[in-house]
Amino acid sequence: MNPDSLKREAAARALDFVEPGMRLGLGTGSTAKHFVALLGERVRAGLDVVGVPTSEATRADAEAAGVRLSTLDETPALDLTVDGADEIAPGLSAIKGGGGALLREKIVAAASARMIVIADETKWVATLGRFPLPVEVVPFGVAPTRIAVEAAAAAAGCPGRAELRRTREGHAFVTDGGHFILDLALGRIPDPLALAERLAAVPGVVEHGLFIGLVRTAIIAGAAGIRIEN
Ligand code: 5RP
Repeated sequence: MNPDSLKREAAARALDFVEPGMRLGLGTGSTAKHFVALLGERVRAGLDVVGVPTSEATRADAEAAGVRLSTLDETPALDLTVDGADEIAPGLSAIKGGGGALLREKIVAAASARMIVIADETKWVATLGRFPLPVEVVPFGVAPTRIAVEAAAAAAGCPGRAELRRTREGHAFVTDGGHFILDLALGRIPDPLALAERLAAVPGVVEHGLFIGLVRTAIIAGAAGIRIEN
């Protein structure tokens, strides 16, 4: 089965956790897109839920699917967020931000009573870090911020290079919040919490893509079936 079918299977399984009246955080990326589309089918069949999107792309998808939308200002406490991930490890720490939406994704996840990550089995890893860690930074002073981010990683025991994310046209990638992304290639993150604390202390860093203590459940779809990790 190809990864996209597995992503859809994981998304379909997450629907089992959705109850009428729930306030839902809607994630970003190709796996979360399946969830939004499948949720739309349920909504059109009569399910009443409200969604808070984690990106402008997801807002457009959810609107097209007919999902009623809200904002965190109107709906500050959510019941459940369903989102994808770039990597997820035992203990349910995760790397997110491959799609550049990590800041809103983390704010929405933190406002949710429960976060479920949906993924195909390629995202499940023994140790985080093979996927370059996205770090959202303010555009002002990005050169010294990049140096400080690399120093923070080295101090946390995982030296590596931070590259400014660019569009296919070669421009700096700009997030929905108007920030840049540094992709921090580390190979392996031996102590995610130590790295998270070091990165959070760098002036110019808005947020990083380490999700620690936020994911309650992971739905992992593989060739052998679906596995649920809690
Ligand atoms: C976006 C994300 C995505 O959830 C992550 O990149 C996974 O994407 P996909 O489901 O397309 O593999 O964090 O910022």
